[in-house]
Amino acid sequence: MAQPSEVGQQAEISRRRFLSGAVAVIASFIGGAITIPAIGHIISPALKPPESPQVSAGSVNDFQLRQPKRVDFFYYKTDGWIEERTSGSAWVVKLSETQFNVFDPRCTHLGCPYGWDAERGQFVCPCHNGIFNINGQVLAGPPPRPLDRLQYTVQKGELIIKQEVQRA
Ligand code: FES
Repeated sequence: MAQPSEVGQQAEISRRRFLSGAVAVIASFIGGAITIPAIGHIISPALKPPESPQVSAGSVNDFQLRQPKRVDFFYYKTDGWIEERTSGSAWVVKLSETQFNVFDPRCTHLGCPYGWDAERGQFVCPCHNGIFNINGQVLAGPPPRPLDRLQYTVQKGELIIKQEVQRA
């Protein structure tokens, strides 16, 4: 049978164990509360899908109705931790003060840059003679589909182009 002093010692030991266990649990909780958000903050850029940059193509008044104009620009593309300066371009056709056709500048056949032939009123791809009308529809040649488009918005009189190609 345990003596009273031994019972006191055992109670002291189990109190110490309890306290040290409680301190360890609290310390782990505090450590987790600090490190988990920090790790999340560090790795979150790598987990986010790359954003589609938006670029101003200038004032809507810079474009004439139904007269295609090629616009070239630079923008910053962010992918994870990497941000790089990239050049881009688009063919813009003004349909009204707020409506535009904004085409990706690569032909839908094999990706050659095409141009606007003002005399014929057609987009012409020099690589294999692909021909598109002002709305991007294929008129002749090997392109398998209409011109791809870029999304846009008009904000405060400016044409803003989103660098995200929508396949036709
Ligand atoms: S790449 Fe344009 S027609 Fe072939």
